[in-house]
Amino acid sequence: MNRGKYVFMQPEVIAKAVKVLRAGGLVGFPTETVYGLGADASNPEAVKKIYAAKGRPRNHPLIVHLAAFDAVSGWASEIPDAAKRLAERYWPGPLTLILKRAANVSVLVTGGQDTVALRVPSHPVAQALLKAFGGGIAAPSANRYSRVSATTAEHVTGEFGGEIDFVIDGGACDLGIESTIVDVSGAQPALLRPGSITARELETALGGPLAAPGELSPRAPGTHTKHYAPRAPVMLMEGDLVAELAASMSRQGHKVAVLARSTERPVLPGVTWIAASAVPVLYAHDLYANLRALDQAGCSAILVEQPPLSPAWAAIQDRLMRAAAGSAAPDAT
Ligand code: TXA
Ligand code: MG
Repeated sequence: MNRGKYVFMQPEVIAKAVKVLRAGGLVGFPTETVYGLGADASNPEAVKKIYAAKGRPRNHPLIVHLAAFDAVSGWASEIPDAAKRLAERYWPGPLTLILKRAANVSVLVTGGQDTVALRVPSHPVAQALLKAFGGGIAAPSANRYSRVSATTAEHVTGEFGGEIDFVIDGGACDLGIESTIVDVSGAQPALLRPGSITARELETALGGPLAAPGELSPRAPGTHTKHYAPRAPVMLMEGDLVAELAASMSRQGHKVAVLARSTERPVLPGVTWIAASAVPVLYAHDLYANLRALDQAGCSAILVEQPPLSPAWAAIQDRLMRAAAGSAAPDAT
């Protein structure tokens, strides 16, 4: 893994990516969270290509990535104090803010809502790209709809092959899970998607409590349904049950994949076992690569050991629950 690795990017790579964006094409690029599938946010024809490539419903809005805070006024009609506070503390970084949209923002970007999602990423390659491009880059995570996000350039190429015009390889993403999303378009800021910035940290930066997302909060489609899902069914359970079920499935001749936290690895035929880190940031860094590796092992199920129910694990818990949502239990017990 390459946490903190300095990524040197050849200027001609950035220049090529900018050329593709200006021509209305799609570019896969690294951010500190996950890889994005980018298009010129002010070109509706280019934005349409994102939905087509991902197979994503048109009412699932996109995040517009900007080089710096001063670009926000071109995309949002109001910048409330809460937005300023959070941006000052966390931008550039893994935080997305939902704001009232400016009149010029395409409905294709906003999924027809009257708000827009904005983020200033910190990854040096994303920064170099945004600065050279000069405009907003609309970018969802670079995975097919409802599948596992991409945290390496190889994942992006594996997802889309030749369907996208260019992928910038910036190595593995530092954080590994998507940005924290905070709605600051209403009366009280609300957390719409947990991420590596915790609710407590946000409240400290805001100097007040976050509201629970309510009836009036903007929809964040994709955060409530099956998402981040490998092809094999994912089952989330306590550690001792994981070992028991893996043993029983193995006895019945099933191939089974396990994402455990315990390093005690039973030797069982047909079982692919990954012992993930007990440290949340390291667990998050490898989460999607681990799920992809386990999925590629071609097993009947992926058994995942339930992480601790503490704030430091909240974003990971959220992604695992969604990966498991809708998975039918295999007929193995
Ligand atoms: O870390 C990230 O946020 C990555 C990198 C590439 O920046 N991007 C990402 O994008 O995760 P995506 O499209 O996979 O997830 C964006 C989420 C979706 O659940 C979408 O519904 C929500 O943001 N969203 C976008 N615009 C919104 C809006 N105006 N109101 C509420 N939710 C919004
Ligand atoms: Mg996504």
